[in-house]
Amino acid sequence: MYFSLGKVALITLLAGLANAAPKGHADQKKLLSWDEAYSKAEALVSKMSLEDKVGMATGSGWGLDNCVGNTYAGNSTDFPSLCLQDGPLGIRFADNATAGPAAITTAATFDRDLMLKRAHYLGKESYGKGVNFQLGPCLDIYRGPYAGRAWEAFGEDPYLQGVAGALTVKGIQSEGVIATAKHFILNNQELNRHTSSSNVDDRTLREVYLWPYARVVEEGVGSVMCSYNRVNHTYACENEYTINTILKGELGFRGAVQTDWFAHMETVQSAKAGVDIEMPASIISPCLTRVPGAHWGPNLTQAVKDGKVSEDRVTNMATRIAAAWYKMGQDKDFPETTLRSFNRSEAPTVVVMDDHAKIVREVGAAAVVLLENDDNILPLNEEKLSKIALIGSDAGPNPDGLNSCADQGCDNGTLAMGWGSGAVDYPYIVTPKEGIEKQAGGSIDITYSYDDWDLVKAANVASDADVAIVFSTSDSGEEYIVVDGNVGDRNNLSLWNNGDELIKAVADANQNTVVVIHSVGPVLMPWIDHPNIKAVVWPGLPGQETGNSLADVLFGKVNPSGRLPYTIAKKEGDYNVKPSNESDVNYIEKLEVGYKHFDANNIEPLYEFGYGLSYTSFKYSDLKVKTTKKEDALVKATVTVNNDGDVDGAEVVQAYIGFPESAGEPPKLLRGFEKVFIKKGKKSKVSFTFGKTELSIWDQEWTVPSGEYKLYIGASSRDIRQTATFSL
Ligand code: NOJ
Repeated sequence: MYFSLGKVALITLLAGLANAAPKGHADQKKLLSWDEAYSKAEALVSKMSLEDKVGMATGSGWGLDNCVGNTYAGNSTDFPSLCLQDGPLGIRFADNATAGPAAITTAATFDRDLMLKRAHYLGKESYGKGVNFQLGPCLDIYRGPYAGRAWEAFGEDPYLQGVAGALTVKGIQSEGVIATAKHFILNNQELNRHTSSSNVDDRTLREVYLWPYARVVEEGVGSVMCSYNRVNHTYACENEYTINTILKGELGFRGAVQTDWFAHMETVQSAKAGVDIEMPASIISPCLTRVPGAHWGPNLTQAVKDGKVSEDRVTNMATRIAAAWYKMGQDKDFPETTLRSFNRSEAPTVVVMDDHAKIVREVGAAAVVLLENDDNILPLNEEKLSKIALIGSDAGPNPDGLNSCADQGCDNGTLAMGWGSGAVDYPYIVTPKEGIEKQAGGSIDITYSYDDWDLVKAANVASDADVAIVFSTSDSGEEYIVVDGNVGDRNNLSLWNNGDELIKAVADANQNTVVVIHSVGPVLMPWIDHPNIKAVVWPGLPGQETGNSLADVLFGKVNPSGRLPYTIAKKEGDYNVKPSNESDVNYIEKLEVGYKHFDANNIEPLYEFGYGLSYTSFKYSDLKVKTTKKEDALVKATVTVNNDGDVDGAEVVQAYIGFPESAGEPPKLLRGFEKVFIKKGKKSKVSFTFGKTELSIWDQEWTVPSGEYKLYIGASSRDIRQTATFSL
């Protein structure tokens, strides 16, 4: 712990005073409808000067204010400067804020309640620090396993991404903060992200990449960030088709489109295409002078005067921004912005963490995917153990100090988030070592070896322990930081820091070896058939409570129920997508993303999408299906799930749809999941409803194909326990 109790108490007291407003707002929970918000916004904006409307749409410059982006306050009417701040897992450049689980780990819970709980605390913390726009959730589909920033989003499946994205928007916005869905669209690799063109057909665009945006727009998301890349050769932030036609037209998005940072390259086309906010809008001069609006600001005002952009378009920008602001209730008592990004120290200390660590710990434990558990070696039985060996740098702290790498751009010590603008500072971290020590109790002797390269020591420490737990990592992030030669994207899918050798050395030395891997995504496991490796534990990127969440599962306080939000292949060549170094990144795999590729091409993965073990077992029976005429409930299904094992636990019941052959879809698509907690010996009836949304394909428009469908209900995308057919 950093401070003495007295200091914590003092800070909390001060924070309590500064935070008087957030509580009141959070209790309201009722947001305005878009119509209500628009009528207020239109009334306000109708009184604004052209310059003020342009100012609302223009950033005040990178590094020149207290947030990563700020807009200008109005003069003609009383409209404040708005603060835009990263990111998807917490508040970047903030102190006294929570560093929780990454989105990819949240997705692995397959738990709607936890997704929403996490979103509420994210929103509360941003609100408490006076952040108007939180720059998340990230909805970039995990198109291929090398994608550097995929850990910022919710995995390879659009349905899962859509559910998690919508719940995240709901939680953040109900706390009075405008959520920002990003990066719109086809920003699926870091390599050449500023120049390459992601080329895709209309159907793939809609069914795979747009799907999650459709769900967050339905949830009323206040902002969408257009991405760096080109889409079919036109920059995403100048793309009339993707922004105006699809996002604002087809999906009916009513909030404001903001550019990614410096993704804005000119004045007129972006305005016409439907961009509403230029971010951060500055020309970075060597002496960091404030140059307002690199492309907008006075340039946009002039473009209006010259007749190149209509004033109506600018009025519409300001109206959209003001509408999002009214919708989230930010016109009433919004807290002062107290961020200290870019070393601004003048703001007061505001502690927003509250008891959010509890949610972080709960999500972290619920997200642990148990990949192997031979001889039921887990949970660890304290009574039978006298010595546990912990091996690998990932078990311990960063030797250079907490937050010693800017934006977490390194892989030192335990890995609990990736790097880049989606990373935050840790207020503290409970390492795996600390978490395990706390729960192992005093009678168990714990020995360590942190050096990943000292295989002799690793083997020695492992050899005389009852159980050896060996840790390793694989990291990635955003391209502006290069870590160990990885320019954001992953160079390969191997473990970092000598991981494979370390695991082999430990397994050779101890016949009860447990492997724990903290990774941004899939890794290769050349040691997986080693007879001494009894368990493989996959906790993802759990944030500050990582060690506690892990120990909860290792010692059986929590029965694991996490499921993989992506596919782990047997070998690298089994994946169909690698980052492309060409200027044209062609999405030729079309709908065959992730497990759909493995299913369609009969490739057996090592661990499939949706997979994960439990300390208990579940039996499925009695699947019943009926069709109705109601558009939002065309098919209804129920299935009974029995916990027939020895302990209580949660099961993730997954529903996959097999479309009629004529539809040309991959073999099965996730279209429902429910996590149900069932006491041992008890059963639960799980229901699914599939409406037009779940049963449509894109064929010039969203269409429900006629013919015979299959419904697959199971414990993963390949562990199908019950099937049924129905016709529409
Ligand atoms: C660039 C990143 O792509 C985006 O996700 C982030 O929100 C902005 N930088 C602001 O930091």
